[in-house]
Amino acid sequence: MTFSPDKLNKVQEIIARYPEERQKSALLPVLHLAQEEFGGWLSVEAMDYVASLLQLEPIEVYEVATFYSMYNLKPVGKYVFEVCQTGPCMLRGSDDIIAYIQQKLGINVGETTPDGLFTLKVVECLGACGYAPMMQLGKFYREHLTKEKIDAIIEECIQNAAINN
Ligand code: FES
Repeated sequence: MTFSPDKLNKVQEIIARYPEERQKSALLPVLHLAQEEFGGWLSVEAMDYVASLLQLEPIEVYEVATFYSMYNLKPVGKYVFEVCQTGPCMLRGSDDIIAYIQQKLGINVGETTPDGLFTLKVVECLGACGYAPMMQLGKFYREHLTKEKIDAIIEECIQNAAINN
């Protein structure tokens, strides 16, 4: 398991942003690169590889990767719904939104649909409380969620997957 030459250059660029001997500071962005490069999730092998690149103990990488919800520790679907379940979103109906997604996709939180298209996760506050209830989908936030919006988002993902196949 190794990064492509392009990604390795990017890793060097990231490390260079920090003082010498402080390459641990590069851990978060390098884990993002690893997740992107190795199929959308971080296997133990991928985390060990990142540890070796940054000259860290593997446990230092596991600690970080298991702490943040944006790192996936098992394979995920092409579209990952990360629904915020913290107070403000909960008060605005995130429980109903989560239940609706579960029912609509036929999966529970933490699961992926058998066709590999969708994964449902619940996460803590994503800093968009004023737009509650909300979720992250890829690099974008989807806000003021309703059941109708969820239907539209799922349909949009299915269409995009069909176009990209
Ligand atoms: S509580 Fe959901 S974004 Fe803050």
